[in-house]
Amino acid sequence: MSVDDRFAKNFADHIEERPFGTRFTPDDSPVKDWATDWSHIDEVWAADPYAIQDDLRERCPVAHTNRFGGAWLPVRWDDVAAIAHDSERFTSRTVVVGNFRPPAEIEPVGGIPPISSDPPFHHDARKLLLPAFTKSAVSKLEPATRAFCHKLIDDLGDRDVVDAATEYAQHIPARVIADMLGYPPQDAHLFTEFIEQSLEGINNPAEERIAAMGRQFDYHMQQIRAHLDEPRDDLTSYLVNAELYGNKLETFHVVGTMILLLVAGIDTTWSAIGASLWHLASNPADRERLVAEPELLPTAMEEFLRAYAPVTMARIVKQDMSFGGVEMKAEDFILLSFPAANRDPSQFDRAAEVVIDREVNRHAAFGLGIHRCLGSHLARMELRVALEVWLERIPRFSLADADAVRWAGGQVRGPRTLPVRIG
Ligand code: HEM
Repeated sequence: MSVDDRFAKNFADHIEERPFGTRFTPDDSPVKDWATDWSHIDEVWAADPYAIQDDLRERCPVAHTNRFGGAWLPVRWDDVAAIAHDSERFTSRTVVVGNFRPPAEIEPVGGIPPISSDPPFHHDARKLLLPAFTKSAVSKLEPATRAFCHKLIDDLGDRDVVDAATEYAQHIPARVIADMLGYPPQDAHLFTEFIEQSLEGINNPAEERIAAMGRQFDYHMQQIRAHLDEPRDDLTSYLVNAELYGNKLETFHVVGTMILLLVAGIDTTWSAIGASLWHLASNPADRERLVAEPELLPTAMEEFLRAYAPVTMARIVKQDMSFGGVEMKAEDFILLSFPAANRDPSQFDRAAEVVIDREVNRHAAFGLGIHRCLGSHLARMELRVALEVWLERIPRFSLADADAVRWAGGQVRGPRTLPVRIG
């Protein structure tokens, strides 16, 4: 098969080959009891999951829900760490808890490798991506990222109230990953749509989600074809030509990885930048201290990542088992809450407080075990530059309207609307 043949067909032509697995009826009803009926798409969870997680940690360390076909929620550090380190008994076949569960046949690759892959395939798929995300590769992207942050601040003009989420945080990772993939930066509005469909639209009917997946798939196909016509020095041309076990990557591997990089690269970092700015806008003492002592930024940043860890991932139970005092069944979902682990008082002193000069901070915001975030150097560079530029240009700011702040629910949590008053 020639390289071009791999990318000849659109999603609709492939759909017959793709098993979509078990589907569940969406349930939008309000949560009755967080220990037995939790839902990470409930508005109460989106607004403040921490109080719920603290309560669960006391009374039932592994909560359950019948929604999404049956799912567990561990909230203690030890349980989250044990599951993250155990890819024998928990598969990453899908990392999103939603209303359909892909079948075991797609193991060990999964739909979006390497995050959806299990050993031994996972190691090889991850290794392919490592060179693009090393510290030194990332440092080359810093000057352009800094210049872009300055441009975003210039574009705010001299208004008193601006939206730090939609006019600043959101654009930074979108531009960085678009440049890495060699995608048109003016398509950023489409990236936002893809993210919403992938992560926030998890309770939409399965048919709607599959159709949305198809639109994403076809968009990436279009970009791949443009790169085949005109090869470039970027991640897309690299992946199209990459080989594993002596063969070019399969179509679904290439496209799945592009989908992952776009979604994982944008929503996560946008949320981390937004949550950090939200904290500084709501806590003038921390903001003033950080402006006066910029050398504190590295520790402050790690603390924002710990306290407002944006990313929760998922696993599927591979076999019936007892775990953490509960009886799990094969095919149950697990919502793997790194944010809840990061606020476990048995792991961190003053776990519920944000301590911007916290010295020891071995948090799990970037995950634990073999799937630990591949983009962590990139994410840290973007977060540091975004905060440095903002604090240099806008040292005085506060929440313009606390009630107008909207947090995304689901598995990547961060402010999606963040009006701040400058001055
Ligand atoms: C503050 C921003 C970020 C946070 C908090 C974050 C968090 C995470 C977490 C918790 C995991 C583990 C997933 C699991 O155990 O299932 C992960 C994996 C991953 N992240 Fe990030 N991430 C961030 C930014 C990025 C960026 C900028 C990229 C690059 C495009 C990226 C790419 C990935 C990839 C490819 C994986 C899968 C690694 C593997 O399976 O071996 N992430 N991330």
